[in-house]
Amino acid sequence: MLKAVIFDLDGVITDTAEWHYAAWKELANRIGIDFNREFNEELKGISRMESLEKILVFGGKAGLYSESEKLELAKTKNDQYVQLLTKMKPDDIFPGIKELLEELKAKGVLIGLASASKNAPAILQSLEITNYFQTVVNPDEVERGKPAPDIFLKAAEKLAVSPAECIGIEDATAGIMAIKDAGMFAVGVGTIEKMKQAGADLVVEDTRELVLSVLLREFNQ
Ligand code: G6P
Ligand code: MG
Repeated sequence: MLKAVIFDLDGVITDTAEWHYAAWKELANRIGIDFNREFNEELKGISRMESLEKILVFGGKAGLYSESEKLELAKTKNDQYVQLLTKMKPDDIFPGIKELLEELKAKGVLIGLASASKNAPAILQSLEITNYFQTVVNPDEVERGKPAPDIFLKAAEKLAVSPAECIGIEDATAGIMAIKDAGMFAVGVGTIEKMKQAGADLVVEDTRELVLSVLLREFNQ
């Protein structure tokens, strides 16, 4: 029986995946690294410092910066990103998500957030949806980031449900892998080929398709 739905945030609930891209691109270009959308896909679901490491390797600049310089670079990216976040308002929730949260609440299905973002609580506040969530896992609470299952398992543990009773919703390859490894039903938001390849059980190309009756039908099959 479905007891909980555990959401990713960036790219599932709202379009912040685009803003992460814009902020990383600006930072990468500033240090002479060509950044593109294809490579950006690899950063989805990946923590801030890990993303920076990947960018430096991608640009052939791994090992050129000290730890404190890297912290400074990550701070520069985050400052730029947080600046973009100041424009965020409830209208920026992807279509269908608020309706799904309402449906879940009405049916007594628990709701959790498993985002690698340290900005997640502030974003939920700006979108005015904090109250729907019974748990928001702080990425610092878990040892390994996605694609490891830790953050989804922690969400289930905090909700006191078993992984088999959960649906996880993700837009990132690493996220789908994390959900599957946690033993949950994985819903991918994105292109069918990419999400299926990552292991998604159900794929929607648009968040409007995230309707509880559809999720339940697939989950119960
Ligand atoms: C999410 C995004 C990543 C981002 C990470 C950390 O997982 O998909 O692109 O790097 O969160 O976000 P933060 O807001 O803490 O830098
Ligand atoms: Mg995401």
